[in-house]
Amino acid sequence: MKAFKPHLAELPVYPYEHHRAPIKLDQNESPYDLPEELKGELAERLRELPLNRYPEMDAEGLVHKIAEFEGWPEEGVVVAAGSNVLLTALAMAARRVLDLVPSFSLYKWSARITGTPWEGVPLGPEFELPTTALRAHLEDAEEPGVFFFPNPHAPTGRFWTPEVVRTLVEVAEKSGWVFVVDEAYYQFAPADFKRHARELAQVVIARTFSKAWGLAGIRLGYFLTTPELATEIKKLLPPFRIPSPTALAAELAMDHPGYLAEVVEKIRRERERVYLELKAHPTWKVYKSHTNFLLIRTPNAEAAFKGLLQKGILVRRMDGQPGLEGCIRVTIGTPVENDAFLKAAFELEEASGAEREG
Ligand SMILES: Cc1ncc(COP(=O)(O)O)c(C=O)c1O
Repeated sequence: MKAFKPHLAELPVYPYEHHRAPIKLDQNESPYDLPEELKGELAERLRELPLNRYPEMDAEGLVHKIAEFEGWPEEGVVVAAGSNVLLTALAMAARRVLDLVPSFSLYKWSARITGTPWEGVPLGPEFELPTTALRAHLEDAEEPGVFFFPNPHAPTGRFWTPEVVRTLVEVAEKSGWVFVVDEAYYQFAPADFKRHARELAQVVIARTFSKAWGLAGIRLGYFLTTPELATEIKKLLPPFRIPSPTALAAELAMDHPGYLAEVVEKIRRERERVYLELKAHPTWKVYKSHTNFLLIRTPNAEAAFKGLLQKGILVRRMDGQPGLEGCIRVTIGTPVENDAFLKAAFELEEASGAEREG
């Protein structure tokens, strides 16, 4: 690998292990596909789509639609095939990356693959925001960089009010930092940051079609930011980057947003039910969440993961990150899937209790 940049040799591949299971609760996807009638309409529109032609250079039609949907100036909207791609582009641009620990692992991974210096500030023992330490970093005007802040937070599910976030952004702006509010899960939370972001100069909001919209398969994410930042970020993205079927599907979904509200309501209700039931678990600790998933601390993440998998339920191990010892993460599924998960969770406990006594 002499031909490649030396820092790449030490890098691990992105930490995701593929497993098959009848009940898939490991990727924070929506358990609900696009409604049947919309899928039918999409199939019809796809038939008309000239696949021999390149899509628009910057997906102008789609950008226009997102701008309208969000009430955001078109010049400040940037799209890519997944918000992942956009976040990595920002890490590439950044002089340095500031992160939380734990956080969405893609931020650190993006910094590492792009050779950008990375620094992580630990959350508190109950995942409290380390405000003083963050301020100290964000006040550094000598070498500002990009701060990735998921809100609601992944993978803990915590949420901080826009007022709390704004205080930090104002510190960051003064010293030239770019503040990314990653709102992949905002539909499941009590509030979002958009109104505030309109009044601020150095904020990037990241959103995605992969979660509440139930469209992880089309790969589409976007930034809402200032025209100035949008122009800089677009320099790092390839032209013609949104496949035309992706744009078509997203446009169709935005024309029928009614299903989204229904799905979000169902998932929120189920999240609260699963949370409350899990609180009665004798050895697991479940954390309050404002997303479509729950973080759970178990005595042994490997045993919990394997035990659930044996029962046909796939969750995600989270114990690799500092502060998440023993943790697994479960996506909220359909009521039937959630029932199966809860049953398995309590059965596992009975089995390990019997083992302890035996
Ligand atoms: C906080 C956060 N941001 C972004 C993403 C990725 O979104 P996309 O599918 O648009 O790349 C995820 C996916 O899990 C996420 O948890």
